Amino acid sequence: SAVVPPASNSATNTNTTMHATVPPTKRTPNDFIFGKVIGEGSFSTVYLTKDIHTQKEFAIKVCEKHYIIKEKKTEYVKREKDILFYLSNTPFIVKLYYTFQDAERLYFVLSYAKNGELLPHINKVGSFDVECTKFYSGEILVALEYLHNMNVIHRDLKPENILLDENMHIMITDFGSAKMYKPAVDRKTKNGVSGCNDDEDEPRRRKNSFVGTAQYVSPELLTDKPVTPSSDLWAFGCIIYQMISGLPPFRSRSEYIMFQKITKLEYEFPSGFCEKARNLVEKLLVLDSEQRIGATDKVKYSSIRSHPFYESLDFDNLHKTTPPPIY
Ligand code: ADE
Repeated sequence: SAVVPPASNSATNTNTTMHATVPPTKRTPNDFIFGKVIGEGSFSTVYLTKDIHTQKEFAIKVCEKHYIIKEKKTEYVKREKDILFYLSNTPFIVKLYYTFQDAERLYFVLSYAKNGELLPHINKVGSFDVECTKFYSGEILVALEYLHNMNVIHRDLKPENILLDENMHIMITDFGSAKMYKPAVDRKTKNGVSGCNDDEDEPRRRKNSFVGTAQYVSPELLTDKPVTPSSDLWAFGCIIYQMISGLPPFRSRSEYIMFQKITKLEYEFPSGFCEKARNLVEKLLVLDSEQRIGATDKVKYSSIRSHPFYESLDFDNLHKTTPPPIY
């Protein structure tokens, strides 16, 4: 059931006439066969596609321009593109190959993660065993180290935004809520820039207006405190909890009640929850973002890497390691 966006004849490709023998630098929708829908966001649809020249598969994220403009999301779409290009070429982060547009739409050509989202993999087996949780959360941690060293906060980390490639390695996607932050010169003094709460680049957004997904949103985002890389560490703690137990720690059908639970740190561990994992989660799910494990680490999250839960995990070679089977 191929869903093909109508071919646009307004797409231009002047490069082919200029250099008939070299590949065009700008692609058009006609360079791809559009297949099934593999993802849907509030402002985009992701299709599995095949490059007709190379037969290579890509995920193409398509945004309707009129909708982006109507919903005043142009800044976010631009930011996602800038951040993805800035990040490219590292394991565990989805790669943006190129972008193009026609009269109606914007196209983001992304690496295709053949095994889809992490969430259904967790739900299918109920929960991950400790080995699996160590491995997959370890890959997420390495991705966060890279992101945060690049001064990018993801701000919407959740199992739906963690994809699995053909070899079952993770790929973090959806940088539509991500933000570059100015690192504090010194977190302990008032001389530096504290956090990244300077929202002068977001005139229409109230300070810290909610951007994440409710279940993984950090307390500082809900209480107008500075959002820092540590907000991703909160989400990371929620994800470890979910891998081990099958469900995220803060749950309610009412978003209001869930937010109350988050700001009061109201959650419980089910019986049988791995003790070392519990200890790590308790050090990540800390209300004061500066007190979370890793929050004051330098280059790498060495304090998280050396937590007993990760004993004997070879963080530096995860992408060369065969992932443990999921069960
Ligand atoms: N869903 C959203 N983005 C995707 C991608 N790059 N690969 C596979 N599934 C996706």
